[in-house]
Amino acid sequence: MKKKLIVANWKLNGNIEMISNYLKFLKNNLLSNLNKNIIVIAPPNIYLERTYQSIKKINIFLGAQNVDVNLKGAFTGEVSVLMLKDIGVKYVIIGHSERRILHNETDNFVAKKFHLIKNSNLIPILCIGETEKEKKNGKTQKVIEKQLNCIFQILGEKAFRNAVIAYEPIWAIGTGVSADPEYVQIIHKFIRNYIQKNDSVSKNVIIQYGGSVSSLNTKEFIQQEDIDGLLIGSASLHAKEFLKIIKISCSID
Ligand code: 13P
Repeated sequence: MKKKLIVANWKLNGNIEMISNYLKFLKNNLLSNLNKNIIVIAPPNIYLERTYQSIKKINIFLGAQNVDVNLKGAFTGEVSVLMLKDIGVKYVIIGHSERRILHNETDNFVAKKFHLIKNSNLIPILCIGETEKEKKNGKTQKVIEKQLNCIFQILGEKAFRNAVIAYEPIWAIGTGVSADPEYVQIIHKFIRNYIQKNDSVSKNVIIQYGGSVSSLNTKEFIQQEDIDGLLIGSASLHAKEFLKIIKISCSID
């Protein structure tokens, strides 16, 4: 049974009532044996602590959707990795395409965050992936190499030990049209081989897929050899649907 990481990225969604009902449902229905599956919920920052209070006694970990590049100081409106750690966060999503596109985050900026997260002994979930145009022009692998190289440049060859990569092709996010699982397998294999060239231990890095995942396609993705988990947006907003995804993943060796 391979280790799989199933992460709910709620993005800018949820409120107190939704979260309370959602977590109650999961608490009452989560499998007692998750078969090496690790479950993470990443709510908006303002609900992190509330979520942590509900999940800390069950087998679910807390994730954040972003973090600042500074640890403390005069940075109005930001949240640091030390603060996230302080309230129970274990995983931090960085480099999501929505942040790269809407907030102009560069590879270098994302790499700095990756460094801070690792230094604080939290686990970065580094999102990478190509646009539709880049895919059409056959540039997917070049784009991914560039995104990974920036991390290697700052952290050296062991960069991806105890880290997570989420391959999220931008064209598959929020569209309802996921990438083909066999295509994703090819890209994941490429990512793993590329990382192995630098560090043979890091080749065991968890590589998740994200982009229009639902309970209908979970099985096909998880069955692929190099897909070690899923990063789920809209389908993770519904507790029943998220539980279905967890159950399918737990049933696959
Ligand atoms: P969707 O599952 O809504 O396509 O979002 C994927 C995603 O961006 C997860 O980080």
